[in-house]
Amino acid sequence: MNSESSETIETVLQEERIFHPSESNFKNSSISGFDEYQKMVDKANSDPEIFWKDNALNELHWFKPFNSVLDWSNAPFAKWFEGGKTNVSYNCLDRHIEQGKGGKIAIIWEGEPGEVRKITYKELFDEVCRTANALKQIGIQKGDLVALYMPMIPEAAIAMLACARIGAPHSVVFGGFSSEALRDRLNDGNAKAVITADGGFRKDKIIPLKKAVDEALLDGSCPSVDSVLVVQRTRENISFNSDRDFWWHELVPAQSTECPAEQMDSEDRLFVLYTSGSTGKPKGVVHTTAGYNLWAHLTFKWIFDVRDDDVYWCTADVGWITGHSYIVYGPLSNCSTSLMYEGVPRPSNPGAFWDVIQRHQVNIFYTAPTAIRAFMKTGRNIPDKYDLSSLRLLGTVGEPINPEAWMWYRQVIGGDKCPIIDTWWQTETGGVMISPLPGVTSTKPGSATLPLPGIEADVVDADGNSVEPNQGGYLVIKKPWPGMMRTVHGNPNRFRENYWEYLKPINGNLIYFAGDGARRDDDGYFWVMGRVDDVINVSGHRLGTMEIESALVSHKLVSEAAVVGRPDELKGESVVAFVTLESGKEGTSELIIQLKNHVGKEIGAIAKPEEIRFTNSLPKTRSGKIMRRILRSLASGEEIKGDTSTLEDRNVLDELRR
Ligand code: WTA
Repeated sequence: MNSESSETIETVLQEERIFHPSESNFKNSSISGFDEYQKMVDKANSDPEIFWKDNALNELHWFKPFNSVLDWSNAPFAKWFEGGKTNVSYNCLDRHIEQGKGGKIAIIWEGEPGEVRKITYKELFDEVCRTANALKQIGIQKGDLVALYMPMIPEAAIAMLACARIGAPHSVVFGGFSSEALRDRLNDGNAKAVITADGGFRKDKIIPLKKAVDEALLDGSCPSVDSVLVVQRTRENISFNSDRDFWWHELVPAQSTECPAEQMDSEDRLFVLYTSGSTGKPKGVVHTTAGYNLWAHLTFKWIFDVRDDDVYWCTADVGWITGHSYIVYGPLSNCSTSLMYEGVPRPSNPGAFWDVIQRHQVNIFYTAPTAIRAFMKTGRNIPDKYDLSSLRLLGTVGEPINPEAWMWYRQVIGGDKCPIIDTWWQTETGGVMISPLPGVTSTKPGSATLPLPGIEADVVDADGNSVEPNQGGYLVIKKPWPGMMRTVHGNPNRFRENYWEYLKPINGNLIYFAGDGARRDDDGYFWVMGRVDDVINVSGHRLGTMEIESALVSHKLVSEAAVVGRPDELKGESVVAFVTLESGKEGTSELIIQLKNHVGKEIGAIAKPEEIRFTNSLPKTRSGKIMRRILRSLASGEEIKGDTSTLEDRNVLDELRR
C-alpha cells in the first residue's frame, strides 16, 4: 500500500444529471421498487442471520440444510452455512431439469470464425457429466485442483461445472497470460491437471495455448501436474505427449452421462482465481461452495432482472471473475440463457458486438467501460447500422465509467430507454456489491449508486471513521457477506493483513478495505474513483506494478525498475516504466522493444508497458522508497506537486524531466 495514496483521492463532484427508473421497462423486476429494496436493506441490517438464511434456503438446493448461518468467531476467516451440503453444478443444472426446463437453451455460443452452438440445459448436463467422468478417469479426485487455460468456448464452462460436480476446485488462468505466468499459478495451486485447447482464436490471430502449456510443464517444472486434457479448437499442429496428454474428443464422448453431483460441504473450495495486488506475486483468491453460489445467484437475479425468454450476454472472458460469476455461475444457477462470444471487436470487424446483439436478439448486455470508450471513438455510425431494439438493460463493470461514456452508452446503444447498471465489485467480493437495480434505483452518470441489500459499504478515513459526504476516502465493507473470499491460497496472513487489518477496527470490528478510493454524495451514492494502492487498471484488467517491475528486473540488462499508471482516454490507465540499466549499458529503441517483449513473456501481452523511459536513477526517499507520486506526475506530463523534500537526491528530478 502506498503511503502517499490519500493525495490521489480527488474530492470534487460535479455530475448532477439523474435518471429515474423507467417503470414501463421493469414492471416485474425481482425487486419491485425502491420501497421493497429499502425493506430488504432494513431486514438485512436488523437481522442478517434471518436475511441470509431465508435467501440461502429459498434460492439454493441443499442435500442437507445447514446448522448455522455465519461463524465469524475467527474473523476474518468466515464460515457460512456450516453443516450444509450442496453442489454448485447441481444448482446450475439438475434442479432446472427436474423442473422441466431441460429443453431451455443454457448457452448460446458464437465462435470467432462465426459458428454458432446452442446448448440446452439437458445437453449441458450430459456434457458436464461426461467430462466429470473423464476427469475421474484421468485420476482427478475430490479436492484436487484442476487448472483451466482455455479459449472462450463452451468447453470452458463445461469444464468448470464438471470440476464443481466432482468437488475438484478449478483455477482458471486467463488465456492471455504467458507460459511463465501459467507455471507460477500451476505451482502455487499445486494443480493436478490442466484443461486446455490446441489454440484459441483472438483478433484474427491464433493463440497457441497447448504450446504454452508444454512450455510451462517443460522438464518437470510443474511436478504436481499429471495430465493435460486438450480440446481441439484450431486444428493447428501441436506436440502430443501420450504419457500425459489426452484429447477431449477421444476421452469425453466415450463417458457415461451418469455422474451424481458430489455432496459438498458449504465451505469446500469451489475455485481459486489469481489476481494482482499491491505486493508480491498475484494471489490466489479462494472462493467456497455455498456462499459464493448464493451471492452469484442472488446478485444476478436482483441486478439483471432476466426474464424466462431473455438472452443475456456478458462480454467478459471466463478467465476473470466476471466470467465466473456472470457468464457461468450466476446465469446458470438462475436458469437463464447466457451468451458466450469468442470474438472481440477490432478494426476488421468494428460492429461485431452489435451484430451479435441483433442476430441473437440480446436483451441484457454487460460490458466494460474501456469497450464503450473504444466504440465512442469509432463513432455512432457503426452501432447505428444495427437493430439494437431488443436491448432492455445495459451493464458495465471493471473500472470507473466516465459520465460521457455512460451517456453515450445510454443514448446510442440503449436508445435512451435502458437503465445503465454500473456494478462495482472485485475478484475478492465474488459478486457485485454496489450497483443500481433496474426499476428501483435512480441513476447518475458515473456513480455505482447504492450497496445491495446485505452489504454495508462506507467511505472512511485512515482511522476507519466515516468521512463527510463528498469527501474522498477509502471504500470499505463493514460486515461479512456470503460471497466474500475466504483466504489467499497458501497465505492466510496476507489475506488478513492486506484486506482486514489495513484499517483500524471500529469498536473491535474488522473492516474490509477494497483498495479503492471513493466518495459518497449527499444522497449516499457511491462514486468509485479507482485504486489507491499500487494496482493499475488497464482496460479493466488488474495489474500489480510490482509484478511488472519484477518482470523487468528479471531481464539481465535491467538494474532497477519502477512502474506507474498513466491516465489513458481509452484504456483507463496505461503502463509506464522507468528503468535503470546495468552500468555501461545503453538504452536503445531496440532494447525498449526487447523489454516490452520480455514483460509479455513473463506475464502476458496485457502487461506490456506502453512506454519505457531510461534513467540513471529513480527518485527515492532517504529510506530508499521509490517516490511513485513523482513518477506518476512525470509519466502523465503533469507538474510535480507536493513535497519533494524527502528526496534523497534532488538532481534525479532534473534528469527525469529531461
Ligand atoms: C475496479 C472486476 C469503478 C476497482 C469485477 C476494483 C470498478 C477492481 C468497478 C476489481 C466499477 C470494478 N467502478 N471501479 N463499476 N468495477 N472496478 O478484481 O478498482 O478484476 O477494485 O474485478 O476493478 O477488479 P477485478
